[in-house]
Amino acid sequence: MIFHLAVTPGEVTITLIILVVIFVFVKTLGNKGRKRLSPPGPWSFPIIGNLFQLGDHPYLTFMEMRKKYGDVFMLRLGMVPVLVVNGMEMVKQVLLKDTEHFAGRPDMHSFSFLAEGKSLSFSVNYGESWKLHKKIASNALRTFSKAEAKSSTCSCLLEEHVTEEVSELVKVFTESTSKNGSFDPRNAITCAVANVVCALCFGKRYDHSDKEFLRIIKTNDDLLKASSAANPVDFIPCFRYLPLRIINAPREFYRALNKFIALHVQDHITTYDKDHIRDITDALLNTCHNKYASTKTATLNDDEIISTVSDLFGAGITTADTTLNGYFIPRKTCTFINMYQVNHDETIWDNPSLFRPERFLNENGELNKSLVEKVLIFGMGIRKCLGEDVARNEIFIFITTVLQQLSLRTCPRAELDLTPTYGLTMKPKPYQLQAELRSSGSSSV
Ligand code: HEM
Repeated sequence: MIFHLAVTPGEVTITLIILVVIFVFVKTLGNKGRKRLSPPGPWSFPIIGNLFQLGDHPYLTFMEMRKKYGDVFMLRLGMVPVLVVNGMEMVKQVLLKDTEHFAGRPDMHSFSFLAEGKSLSFSVNYGESWKLHKKIASNALRTFSKAEAKSSTCSCLLEEHVTEEVSELVKVFTESTSKNGSFDPRNAITCAVANVVCALCFGKRYDHSDKEFLRIIKTNDDLLKASSAANPVDFIPCFRYLPLRIINAPREFYRALNKFIALHVQDHITTYDKDHIRDITDALLNTCHNKYASTKTATLNDDEIISTVSDLFGAGITTADTTLNGYFIPRKTCTFINMYQVNHDETIWDNPSLFRPERFLNENGELNKSLVEKVLIFGMGIRKCLGEDVARNEIFIFITTVLQQLSLRTCPRAELDLTPTYGLTMKPKPYQLQAELRSSGSSSV
């Protein structure tokens, strides 16, 4: 039997509409159960995202955005979604409480050349091998900085190296003043800091005019500018093929640095004597030989020793889905911690831009430790800076010695500008000073 169904176009349309409505209804219901709230953030352009809205000082732009979107917000740099975290409480949540979830590092083009991708600081992989790597590097650094000094006037090897470098700084500053009338201290300070690490790692320091050493110091400047939060090459992959200075700077710097370190490590491998450990490189070789001999378990190979030493020379991603401030943050989200905002938060610091060291003292003239702990410069949690103790001791000895021995002055009519040049680290703009050896009782600027 054949049925003839007379279906009109109107009925077909109504049936289709009903089906679409049911489909949308079921889909919405399904999504409702697992609706995840994403962080707020500014509208972004296709392909470039918010990249060109960041300006020369992205940390200030983030502070402006924070006023509108709160401590946690999301933007797009190129095609990459980036989570920006501000405010001490949220930063602590990320770095201390939820630390393993935020311990990854983004796969950025600018950092990929360091130690040929095996760097501890910028390694994309966070896991057991990274933990072993960090532990070995940290032990070697601690043991060697606290090792006995050769001279009896210093309490440890680190103090001895730092004292030697700061004496050289005092000499360079006074000589440059008498020769040129004034000097820009930035290069000499970079040489002194790099020399302390060279002395610890390789048992060797360089003269401030050594060509090989100066080449690395000079390319370092370009690198710091290039490795900032706003380098398009890290966020728009096709940019990396353009012949621009900002794109090639990291490759040039890391190539020179890797070569410099590899030469020293190779030299140490050939001259290594287990009964005479000279420096950190020897200590790393020793750890590897001992560990392998006693347990036959994996330690660091020669390439990893090179990369560990590079780390001592020298943004994160989420490792799993997580939530922050009630927002859903998917795995592998690139995360920026706005440390500048924490250190300039007016709810913590009264007039934060004013240089007022006495703000850290309580009414009895003692150090206010709870306030000191609110300064965030070395990070927190498992990715915290490995060199914090070295850096703190070094800064203390550098500053006290320079101020005790020299009277520093600005040049007549020159204004000092504290606005930093933004990059991987914040550097001061070029400036000129005059230095004079203190006769007891003279005053300084
Ligand atoms: C004033 C000087 C210094 C400052 C402000 C500083 C700051 C930092 C910061 C903010 C981090 C990143 C933390 C994170 O990713 O969450 C870091 C990591 C690191 N720093 Fe420093 N640092 C300084 C000096 C040093 C020195 C002298 C060394 C070595 C001798 C060093 C070795 C490292 C290493 C190896 C890491 C990577 C740690 C990791 O990823 O687990 N730092 N530093």
